Amino acid sequence: MNILVTGANGQLGNEMRLLAPQFPEHRFFFSDLFVPDNAPVRIFPLDITCRDALRNFVSDNSIQLVINCAAYTNVDRAEQDEPEARRINALAVENIALTGARVIHISTDYVFSGEGCCPYRESDPVAPRTAYGRTKLEGEQLLFNAAPDALVFRTAWLYSSFGNNFVKTMLRLGAQRDTLSVVYDQVGTPTFAADLAAAVMAAVQVPEWHPGIYHFTNEGVCSWYDFALEVFRQHNALVPADHVSCRVLPCLSSEYASPTPRPHYSVLDKALVKRTFNLTIPHWTDSLTRCLELMK
Ligand SMILES: NC(=O)c1ccc[n+]([C@@H]2O[C@H](COP(=O)([O-])OP(=O)(O)OC[C@H]3O[C@@H](n4cnc5c(N)ncnc54)[C@H](OP(=O)(O)O)[C@@H]3O)[C@@H](O)[C@H]2O)c1
Repeated sequence: MNILVTGANGQLGNEMRLLAPQFPEHRFFFSDLFVPDNAPVRIFPLDITCRDALRNFVSDNSIQLVINCAAYTNVDRAEQDEPEARRINALAVENIALTGARVIHISTDYVFSGEGCCPYRESDPVAPRTAYGRTKLEGEQLLFNAAPDALVFRTAWLYSSFGNNFVKTMLRLGAQRDTLSVVYDQVGTPTFAADLAAAVMAAVQVPEWHPGIYHFTNEGVCSWYDFALEVFRQHNALVPADHVSCRVLPCLSSEYASPTPRPHYSVLDKALVKRTFNLTIPHWTDSLTRCLELMK
C-alpha cells in the first residue's frame, strides 16, 4: 500500500518514520510544511491546508492511505488565533478526507470537558473547553462527514524524544532551577508517541479495516506532578553523571497561571482499541524509560 504520513517533522510523524522500515510491504511518503536541512528520509513539502496540492499529491503518487500526524498543537496560541488552528485542525482534515484515500487521523482528549471522574469512552459526550479542543472536534466531524470509513485515534499527553514536550521541558527547567512547582490536580496518562505509532500500524495491519474512533494512551494514571517526579527519578538513575537535584513541589492549577483552562481529568478508556487491534499497551513508566534511554 502507498501510505502518506503528514506532519512528518512532528513528534508522532518522526516516530512513524522510525517505524516505517519494519513494514517493507508498504511504500511510505513523508510530508510536512517545511523540509528540514538534514532530514533522515525524504520529506515532501506539502501544506495540508492547500486542497489542490494535497489532492494532486495523493493522485500523482497513488496514495491509498493518509496517516495525518499534522496539526496545530500549541494549545495556548490556538486560544489567541482560533481561525488559524481551525484551518489546520479542522478544514485541512476535511481536505484530506476529500482526497478519496483512506484516512487515519489523530485527535485529542481536549474534545471532552475534562471534568469527568472515570475514564472517557469513545461514545461519551464531547464538550471542548478550549479553541484547540473545538477545532480538533470539528476536524473529527468534518472527517467523518466526508469519509465515513475513517479511523481516529484520540490520544493525550504525548511525548517523544523528538520535538518539544513535557519530559524535555522538565529536564531543561530541572537543570536550571532549585525548585519546580507542578500541578497535581490534573490527572491523565502520558503517551509515548512511539507506542501510538505502533498502535496506528496495528490498525493498518489487521486483516479487516475497522473505522471509527479509538482512545489510545499508555496504561496507568498520574498527575503532571507524578509525571515530573518520575522523569527526574528515572533520568537520575539512567544518567547519574547528569544528576538533576531540583525539588518538585505539588501545586494547584489555580496557583499556576495558564492562559488556557486545562482539563482536570484526561484519562481515556482503552478497552475498545485493545480489543479491536489485539494490543498490549505498555505502562507509562515503562515507556518513559524507553524514551529516556533514547534521549540519553
Ligand atoms: N502533543 C500532545 O500532547 C498531543 C496530545 C493529544 C493529541 N495530540 C495530537 O496528536 C497528533 C500529533 O501531535 P504531535 O505532538 O506529534 O504534533 P507536533 O509535534 O506539533 O507535529 C505536528 C506537525 O504538523 C506540522 N504542520 C502544522 N501545520 C501544517 C500544515 N498546514 N501542513 C502540513 N504540516 C503541518 C507541524 O509543522 P510546524 O511545527 O512547522 O507547525 C509539525 O511538524 C496531533 O493531531 C495532535 O493534535 C497531541
